[in-house]
Amino acid sequence: MNAPQTRPFDAARLREDFPILQQSVNGQPLVYLDNAATTQKPAVVLEALDHYYRYDNANVHRGVHALSDRSTTAFEAARETVSRFLNSPAAHQVIWTRGTTESINLVAQSWGRQNLRAGDRILVSWLEHHSNIVPWQLVAEATGAEVVPIPVSDAGDIDLAAFDALLDARVKLVAVNHVSNALGTVNPVAEICRRARDAGALTLVDGAQAVAHMPVDVQAIGCDFYAFSGHKVFGPTGIGVLWGRESVLEAMPPFLGGGEMIETVSFEGTTFNSLPFRFEAGTPHIAGAIGLAAALDYLGGIDLAAAAQHEKRLLAQMLELTADVPGLRRIGQPAECVGIFSFIIDGVPPADLGMLLDEQGIAVRTGHHCTQPLMSRLGLPGTVRAACTLYNTPDDIERLARGIHRARRLFA
Ligand code: ALA
Repeated sequence: MNAPQTRPFDAARLREDFPILQQSVNGQPLVYLDNAATTQKPAVVLEALDHYYRYDNANVHRGVHALSDRSTTAFEAARETVSRFLNSPAAHQVIWTRGTTESINLVAQSWGRQNLRAGDRILVSWLEHHSNIVPWQLVAEATGAEVVPIPVSDAGDIDLAAFDALLDARVKLVAVNHVSNALGTVNPVAEICRRARDAGALTLVDGAQAVAHMPVDVQAIGCDFYAFSGHKVFGPTGIGVLWGRESVLEAMPPFLGGGEMIETVSFEGTTFNSLPFRFEAGTPHIAGAIGLAAALDYLGGIDLAAAAQHEKRLLAQMLELTADVPGLRRIGQPAECVGIFSFIIDGVPPADLGMLLDEQGIAVRTGHHCTQPLMSRLGLPGTVRAACTLYNTPDDIERLARGIHRARRLFA
């Protein structure tokens, strides 16, 4: 596919590319600010999915017929697209999974079971989503290893001095998110990976919340694994990626057994396929991979540096327009963050506020955001989270602010 032309950044025009955003909800034009939970899909992604099922649908790597050939070609081209997106040295380091959660479980169950022993440590930060905690707890339980949290400050930044103090010979893996889903913190992942590597540990970066906001370069980050989900980056649900360093992936045993991941099968013993297929048992989400590639091609036509500046302006606008809401408190003030505004209002339960906003056609997320350890560290049951992305506009933020003011008055 040809590299798309980057056009001057214009959020209002980008918004028009997303059919779902053109509707009214509860009698009001939709304001969608739940982008950290999932992003909406541009028409080009919907068209890619439709085209695949309408014209090319067939299983991959299995048939000699025309449809299978087309399907396989598009599926492997999608892998190449992801490989370029991540600046991977090679496409076979890109493994299709169902999403970030499965990618992390794959590493935990394959690499973890093979390499972890009693007394070993896995460091994760207090900022992590449950999907970057629980898989490590499961493998720790099975191997006798220990999951140890890296402290974060009240502002929501990883405490690098405390991290250094934890980095000893027991640490075999450090797993941190690139961007926090709850607070929006952009973590210094290249620096964290460098320190972990110097201490002899491998690194996994959960990129679920980063991919829609910034260019990702796995070589510059220097991680051993990078995981993300298609649906967080304007692609379909049910498709995700595990990127891995080749030497590490090569040494890992299969995660799931089945078709496609084998070389030969007999009752005397089975030999396994090469990368990436060794980790891709069963019929993959072919349409999802193709849809994800369409999303990444779409993103490739957008000036991401300008989009990041736009999101920073939206965050500043949210802070300014809500500064006089009685009892409102922003949760976390990270040194670097994406356009996520996490807040509480004294005397207003987050879920009630979310419902009052929904009545005004405004979608936000409320609750613990699958980060219960972080919430308990901050002494909160949950927050309200407004998460911007490139198609949100200053009008969206004005509507949000008016909605918050109106909801607050109801609780006065
Ligand atoms: N991880 C997603 C969120 O933060 C679901 O909402």
